[in-house]
Amino acid sequence: MSPDPGIYLDHGATAFPKAPGVSAAVTRFIDKEAGNPGRGGHRLTVAASRAIEGAREDVAALLGSDPERTLLGPGATFWLNTVLSSRLGSGDRVVTSALEHNAVMRPLRYLESTRGVEVTVVEGEDPRGVPTPQEVAARVAEAPTTLVVLIHASNASGGVLPVAEVARAVAPVPVVVDAAQTAGGLAIEFATLGVAALACSGHKGLLGPPGIGVLLLAPGFEVEPLVRGGTGSRSESEEMPDFLPCRLEAGTVNGPGAAGLGAACRWLREHTVEKVLEHEQGLVKRLADSLREIPGARLHGWEDDRPHTGILSFTVEGADTGELAAWLDRERGIMLRAGLLCAPAAHRRLGTFPDGTLRAGVGPFNTRDDVDSLVVAIRDAAEGRMSS
Ligand SMILES: Cc1ncc(COP(=O)(O)O)c(C=O)c1O
Repeated sequence: MSPDPGIYLDHGATAFPKAPGVSAAVTRFIDKEAGNPGRGGHRLTVAASRAIEGAREDVAALLGSDPERTLLGPGATFWLNTVLSSRLGSGDRVVTSALEHNAVMRPLRYLESTRGVEVTVVEGEDPRGVPTPQEVAARVAEAPTTLVVLIHASNASGGVLPVAEVARAVAPVPVVVDAAQTAGGLAIEFATLGVAALACSGHKGLLGPPGIGVLLLAPGFEVEPLVRGGTGSRSESEEMPDFLPCRLEAGTVNGPGAAGLGAACRWLREHTVEKVLEHEQGLVKRLADSLREIPGARLHGWEDDRPHTGILSFTVEGADTGELAAWLDRERGIMLRAGLLCAPAAHRRLGTFPDGTLRAGVGPFNTRDDVDSLVVAIRDAAEGRMSS
C-alpha cells in the first residue's frame, strides 16, 4: 500500500509531483537509451546522445538560450561553484546581495579565505532585503569589481531581485544569477536578460528529476571547468576540449536526469510558465491574506504587489518552527520546510535568524484546498490546539 500522499507544500526545496511525462522519459532512457552518450557510434550510444541533446534543446527553448551554451550538470550548486571558482582569484572583488543561499555564500566565503577575494554584501533599504539596481551599482562603483552575483529570488522569502535592471546598471561588470528559485516559475528569456551566466536546478520549478541542473552562458563569457575528464570527444588529447558543451561536461552526463528534465521543459512550454506563475501567485496571495488574519502569525519578506515567487515565509508566535513543521506533517499531513533554509544570510537580513521561518512553497499542481488546509492547521496551532 502506498503511504498517504499528504499535502506537499515544499516546492521551494524541490517540486513534487514532477511534470507529467518526466517519469516516462526517465524510464525510457534507462530501458531503451542508456548507452554512454558521445562514446562510440553504436545504436545505444547514439540513442543516449539523441536523448540528451534533445533535452538540451528543450531546456534552451524554455529558457531562451543557445543550446551549445546550455550546460547540463548535477545542479545549481555545482554550476555556481564552477563559475565562481573560475572567475574569482586573488585581488578580485565580488558584489552580492544579503539574500544569498549557501550555494553562493559558501563558495564566496571559501574564495575569500583561500584566495583573498573581497566579498561586498549589498544590504539594501527595502525591508525584504531586495536591493535596487541603484544600490548595487553604488557598491560596484566604490572599487574595481570583477563580478556581481545575485540570487534571482530569495529561497527564504520569495522576493524577486531585479537582475536585468542590475545588469544594465553595472555594465560592463558581468552579472551571475542563481535562478534556482525562479527557473520554470518566472519567465526567463536568457538571450535578452543581459546577464553573463545563469545557474538553476532541474528539480525545482523546472519540475524535473533531482541530480540535474543547468548553466547558461552568454556569448563571450567563458568559464573554466571545475572538474576535468573524459568527454567522448578529442580523446587523443590530454587537455579538455576547447568547445562547449564538452569543455564543461566532463564524465558521463546524467542521461535519465536530462531526459526527465527535457520532458518537464516540454510540459512547461506547452502549459506556459506564465500560467504556472499566475496559478502559484494566486495561491500564495490567498495564503498570505489568510495567514495575516490569524493572531500571532507573522509573514516575513512579503509585501502586497511586489514581485514574488510561489513561496511564503512565516512564523507563529511562541511556536518553534521545527516543532510546528513536524506537527503539520505528523498530524495534518502537510509537508513544508522550517528553519534557516540554507540561507543564514537572508534570515539575518529578514530578522529571523537563528530560528528561521516556516516556508510554504506551492507548485503547479497544488489547489486552493491545499492552501486552506494549511491555514486551518496554522490557526489551530496559533490558538494552542496542537495536540491533534
Ligand atoms: C536559491 C538556491 N540556490 C541554489 C540551490 C541549490 O540548488 P541545487 O539543488 O540544484 O544544487 C537552492 C536549492 O535549495 C536554492 O534554493
